[in-house]
Amino acid sequence: GLNSRLLAGENTASAPASNAAQPIHILYGTQTGNSENLAMDAAASAKALDMAPDVRGLDDIEMDALAAMRHVVIVTSTYGEGEMPDNAQLFWEALSADTAPRLEGMKFAVLALGDTGYDGFCQAGKLIDTRLEQLGATRIATRLDCDIDFEDAAAAWFGETLPLAAEKPVASGVAAPTPSREQTGWSRKNPYVSTMAVNRRLSGTASTKEIRHFEFDLADSGLVYEAGDALGVMPVNDPALVDLLIARLGASAEMEVSGASLGTLLSTHYEISTPSRDLIAEVEHRAGHEELTHVVRNGDKEALEAFLWSKDALDLISLIPEGSLNAAEFVGLLKPLQHRAYSISSSPKEAEGHVHLTVASVRYHAANRDRGGVCSTYMADRVAEGASAGIFVSPNKAFRVPGNDDAPMIMVGPGTGIAPFRAFLQERRARGAKGRNWLFFGDQRRESDFIYEDELSTMSRDGLLTRLDLAFSRDQDAKIYVQTRMKENGKALFSWLEDGASFYVCGDASRMARDVDAALSEIIAEHGGMTAEKAADYVTGLKKDKRYLRDVY
Ligand code: 2AM
Repeated sequence: GLNSRLLAGENTASAPASNAAQPIHILYGTQTGNSENLAMDAAASAKALDMAPDVRGLDDIEMDALAAMRHVVIVTSTYGEGEMPDNAQLFWEALSADTAPRLEGMKFAVLALGDTGYDGFCQAGKLIDTRLEQLGATRIATRLDCDIDFEDAAAAWFGETLPLAAEKPVASGVAAPTPSREQTGWSRKNPYVSTMAVNRRLSGTASTKEIRHFEFDLADSGLVYEAGDALGVMPVNDPALVDLLIARLGASAEMEVSGASLGTLLSTHYEISTPSRDLIAEVEHRAGHEELTHVVRNGDKEALEAFLWSKDALDLISLIPEGSLNAAEFVGLLKPLQHRAYSISSSPKEAEGHVHLTVASVRYHAANRDRGGVCSTYMADRVAEGASAGIFVSPNKAFRVPGNDDAPMIMVGPGTGIAPFRAFLQERRARGAKGRNWLFFGDQRRESDFIYEDELSTMSRDGLLTRLDLAFSRDQDAKIYVQTRMKENGKALFSWLEDGASFYVCGDASRMARDVDAALSEIIAEHGGMTAEKAADYVTGLKKDKRYLRDVY
């Protein structure tokens, strides 16, 4: 992984102690913590180069401060389809504005994280990189655009780029300190094989959804986490789909492809649910399939998405004649199988030695086959209690309970969005935090979807949950959503904000979180007696104070 590369690298070195350490600003734009973690690692390496690294989120950077910086490395992910991550939005507004300062005195380099599976690959990094140059800053290294498998490429890039940012030549041969977050050594590249202690259904059988509660045993792994972190889980593909693919390829599970058996490769090494871009292109090229050719050549994103909806790799190769693509060619078109990350639903202070997840199993039927999500159904169906799965912690340092135990906390988490808030509430209980807690929860029906009802009732009775507002959308004719409850209680909600409350949202990004955001602004305008513009400033203030935090997907 990143650390071992940097540790082993020739560039990790200490300059003589007499040299004053040169400041380097390592700034990150992050949604789920990857960029932040990379920035931390880069800082450890910079220290070993006798630089004085200053690691900060882009939400901490005002334009005046930026203009005064001489050496800057920016690490940023891209959110959704080409958008800035949450903590970079205000920075980008200011940087892209006509009022942005000139940056002639700055030397910079940008590392962009992204996912080639989405449009707008690494778009946030590209925009920042271009804009810094426009403003007169000097690029010291070519931008690196990383796909999801970023660790090694990022490590190599930092190994080359950081010495370029050093004004004095660097000596070599001294190892960098080990960053603390990986003290236990478990990572995406080296997951801990944990035993499933609990795997049970939370939602009622009458529910349209299957939401499950999982508990992984941490045993003596030394794996540590905090409420607000995510857990990476390494999935194994559905064996039924693997078998069908192997049959369609006219191959056998035992067949060797570049040193491994085809069965193993398709089970644990490659993504076979979502077709890769290369596979789509190859099939389009060979298929002579009118609709596919039309949607691919047209560049019509929505038509392509509609065509691909619920289609996996098997559906795709079923569009070309059997036997026209051999197993090795097919494997060569696939992307590596990635972990899936879930918001942890426990606090380590209460779940002693365990980590909990709250996950909806993705299941549907299409074109005569039962299909499932890659990892949710793997855990639900194939990691029985007592069986094991590979896990690691993906820290999300920005998503935490308030540092001040007396500060109020407002949480909006319908459906599985409740996960981190169950963790937050446990955390505050374990700490004996006195601050008030308000949870908005909801889903389709109270009867079958009120997950963790017992626990939440106990928390209400014990006074840990000061307020619990529920929104069950399908228990009456008119839809009631969490934002409906927010607006009904707008006066109180605004007064909590005025009392310094942090406002948290977790769950569906495209509809729920968007509508909750709009409701928040409306509430502030109405109950704060503000114009829409002033209310927007108020929300900006909350973001700047890190009191408006989202874990949305
Ligand atoms: P619905 O499906 O009955 O419309 C979890 O999926 C819950 O979120 C469900 O109760 C769902 O309601 C609701 N939901 C759907 N769209 C939403 C939106 N735009 N804002 C908030 N909640 C929404």
